[in-house]
Amino acid sequence: MTIGLFGFGCVGQGLYDVLNHSQGLQANIEKICVKNANKPRKIDMSYFTYDKTEVLGKNNLDVIVELIDDSDEAYKIVSEAMSNGVNVVTANKKMLAENFESLYKLQEKNNIALIYEGSAGGSIPIIRNLEEYYDNELLSSFRGILNGTCNYILTRMELESKNYDAILNDAQSSGFAESNPWLDVAGFDTLYKTCLLTVHSFGMILKPEQILNLGIQNITFDDIVYAREKGLRIKMIGTGYKVGENGNGKFRVYAMPHFVIAKDELYNVMYEYNGVEVEGAFSCKQTFVGKGAGSHPTGSAVLSDISALTYDYKYGYKKLKKQASIAGKLPNGELLDNDFEIKVYIRFKDKAEIKDIEIISVEEEYKSTRTNYIVANVKFKSLFALKGNAESKVFVCAV
Ligand code: HSE
Repeated sequence: MTIGLFGFGCVGQGLYDVLNHSQGLQANIEKICVKNANKPRKIDMSYFTYDKTEVLGKNNLDVIVELIDDSDEAYKIVSEAMSNGVNVVTANKKMLAENFESLYKLQEKNNIALIYEGSAGGSIPIIRNLEEYYDNELLSSFRGILNGTCNYILTRMELESKNYDAILNDAQSSGFAESNPWLDVAGFDTLYKTCLLTVHSFGMILKPEQILNLGIQNITFDDIVYAREKGLRIKMIGTGYKVGENGNGKFRVYAMPHFVIAKDELYNVMYEYNGVEVEGAFSCKQTFVGKGAGSHPTGSAVLSDISALTYDYKYGYKKLKKQASIAGKLPNGELLDNDFEIKVYIRFKDKAEIKDIEIISVEEEYKSTRTNYIVANVKFKSLFALKGNAESKVFVCAV
């Protein structure tokens, strides 16, 4: 395999190391395109170029591996490579989730592989399993801790009684967090990964704006204490599940903090580890756990994709094709249900901060001069008022 690589940051360097230790895979990186010409590099400078056409124009490459930070630029690179008939491996969940439909169509049109195991769950082989292993299984749900940074912050806040900001800095220096950590803590990264798992679990292409994501950016130590007193933990979870009768059911898909009980398989998934629980009609519940972020774990998932290309692997998109044949078009949201009630814990300072949330009934209420919270049944749809809202200081957690 001759590889043209875009990006030599945390994951790119991880791939380089993992590739150097791999046994059996004959693969070499021919050229690496990077943005910053002044950054010192750990390997020979002859590998590098700053001109993307130098890599995209090569006709001896078996695969383009895209591992850059900028999702718009990544989309341009990936679509150009695919249009040129070159297989692509990427770990760019934002780029994939935001452009899924057109990337899917490009794969079909050019009969080309675009594979992306490293984009969700880090080192956990979840996408290929959802696609292949559960291809005939009636999957009813997935729920996963999909963001290593959030889980790392939540774990250390709880175990070390530390505050949020100090730990976020550690997550950044450990290479877990995105260069824009808002994507992690406000739940966008979990949302993008949830979009990808929805394609491979249920055959539905959803746009990130159709799905609710709430994050942990406003969490305080009071929330951790509330959970601890009740024997619960707070986990940032992306979930998708079927509701209603088989054959005419709908799907609920969202990403937000959840309280989990000690018996929950996700309760003991700590630090930067991810965990995904999948439930099928016959297989029942199965949980996959592994490192969800970091240079080598993600590099190993990328390497596994490169290796899969040696036996001409590509996603079959069997569920997506089945749903498309039922609907007569690519399914993109008709089966999504955002119209239901959900029980949540809402912590706020001032009632005005939660005026847009439609509260149906309050089960528990606490007032003090420092903070207030309620546990209430609310209209799920109304929580969209808090999605990506950088002004809001409200913390919401599913009960
Ligand atoms: N920032 C991401 C995370 C990296 O923390 O999970 C891995 O996708």
